[in-house]
Amino acid sequence: MAEPVTGTATARSYSNIAFIKYWGNRDDALRLPANGSISMNLDGLETVTTVRFRPDLRADSLTLNGQPQQGEPLERASRHLDHIRRLAGYETRAGVVSRNNFPTGTGIASSASAFSALTLAACAALGLNPDEPTLTRLARRGSGSASRSVPGGFVEWYAGADDRSSYAESIASPDHWALVDLVAIVSHEHKTVGSTGGHAIAPTSPLQPARVADTPRRLDQCRTAIRERDFDALADVVEQDALMMHGVMMSSRPSLVYWQPPTLALILSTQAWRAQGTPVCFTIDAGPNVHLITTVDEGERVARAVEQVDGVKAVLAATPGGPAHLLDEHLAAE
Ligand code: DP6
Repeated sequence: MAEPVTGTATARSYSNIAFIKYWGNRDDALRLPANGSISMNLDGLETVTTVRFRPDLRADSLTLNGQPQQGEPLERASRHLDHIRRLAGYETRAGVVSRNNFPTGTGIASSASAFSALTLAACAALGLNPDEPTLTRLARRGSGSASRSVPGGFVEWYAGADDRSSYAESIASPDHWALVDLVAIVSHEHKTVGSTGGHAIAPTSPLQPARVADTPRRLDQCRTAIRERDFDALADVVEQDALMMHGVMMSSRPSLVYWQPPTLALILSTQAWRAQGTPVCFTIDAGPNVHLITTVDEGERVARAVEQVDGVKAVLAATPGGPAHLLDEHLAAE
C-alpha cells in the first residue's frame, strides 16, 4: 500500500430514465445484469458530490442533503470507495458530501446519479484517470443504472459476459432528439422494496426468462427508433418493456406491486392521448410514479394534461442530459 493520500474532487451527474429496463442480475457481486438496457440522461435532475480523502480520518463519512448518513447508505458508499481505493493502491478514508437537486422520496433513481458522481469524484481525488468505459464499469459496481449516467445523452449498457464486457456508452448525443421526460409524482413515500432487493427476486418469476430472452429484439427496436427519431416505434417498445418488467415484478415471490391507483390512471390516459395523435408514452421504474416521454414541442400541453389526472401531486420536466463531469468548486465539508 502506498502512503496515505490527500485529495479532493467534485463531480456532477444526472439521473437517467431507462427506455429498456435493467431488472435482475446474472452476477450480484459484479452487478452483471440479466439483460442490456438503454436510457436517457435527465438534464437538471442531478447529484453533486465532493469526495475528500484525508489521512486523519479513521472512517469514511457520508452527508446527503445535509444529513449525516449511517448504516446501509454509508456502508454501500464505503464499499464502493473500497473498490476504487484498491485500484489506486491507497487505504485513506474519505469524507463524502452529496446533494441531489430533486426532491428525495420522489422515486427518481438517485442511486444512478449518486454512484456515477461518487465514482468520478473518488477516481479524480485519488489521481486515477480512467477512460469512460472503465468509469462506467466502476460505477456499475455501485449501482447498475449508474453505469448509464456516466456517458451523455442516450446511453446503452451492454449486459456483457464479464466485468470487462459489461459497460455503457453513448448511442446518441443529448441534442440528437428533443424529447422531454415529464415525471408525474403520485407518491412521496419511500418504497418498501428497493431496486437492489427487487433484482434479487427477479428469478423467482417464471416470466423473467421470457423477458430476458426477448431483450435483444426490444434493444434493437429502441436503438433504431432513437437513431431514426421514430416516436411511434419508441413508444411501442418503451411501454411494452415497462409492462414486461412490471409483469415480472408482480409475479415474483414475494410479489412486488409498485403501482397505485393514479399509476394506472396515467397509463390509461397516456394510451388514450397517443391514440388521439399526441406523441407520448409512459414508463415506470420500481415505484408508483410515471414518466411520460414526449417531444419538447408537446411538453407544455402534455404537462398541463398530466396535472389534471387525479392523484398527481407534481410534474417535473427533464430534457436529455450530458455526461458526468468534474466541477472546480467543492461542496462545503459538513
Ligand atoms: C427499475 O440500478 O437502481 O430503475 O444496481 O441495485 O442499484 P442497483 O439497482 P438500480 O436498478 C434500476 C432498476 C430500474 C430500471 C432501470 O433503471 O434500468
